[in-house]
Amino acid sequence: MDYQKLIEKAKEARKLSYTPYSHFPVGAALLTKEGKVYVGANIENASYPLCMCAERNAIYQSYLDGVRKDDIAAIVIVADTPNPCSPCGACRQVISELMDENADVIMTNLNDDTLVVKVKDILPFAFSEEDLK
Ligand code: THU
Repeated sequence: MDYQKLIEKAKEARKLSYTPYSHFPVGAALLTKEGKVYVGANIENASYPLCMCAERNAIYQSYLDGVRKDDIAAIVIVADTPNPCSPCGACRQVISELMDENADVIMTNLNDDTLVVKVKDILPFAFSEEDLK
């Protein structure tokens, strides 16, 4: 699947977000190497720290279906931002552990301004399982 198609799926997923507090809907779409897509959107809560980001929902959804890091080709993050929407720090930590370091992180917005970076480049000095030894 080409990335433009994946971006369209993330935009569709964005419409399913639950954002009564921030009014900032975000969509995500994860692509496996086999061509399967898992979408996510941000889901908020009156207890603000419980809000869950779009990209983490997409990644967790894929894991619950048996997908693992080596199976993942790319993830799209889209929001109505002036520049390509950047994943938050918490999501970078999750992406760094749960996606292959050579997978693509596709940041975009509603105008299709797009920036593609590798997982290994989004979080220098990430905390990892190595630190737990
Ligand atoms: N949000 C995401 O879904 N992904 C990000 O990487 C940035 C932030 C959500 C969280 C919250 O629901 C809203 O955007 C405003 O921060």
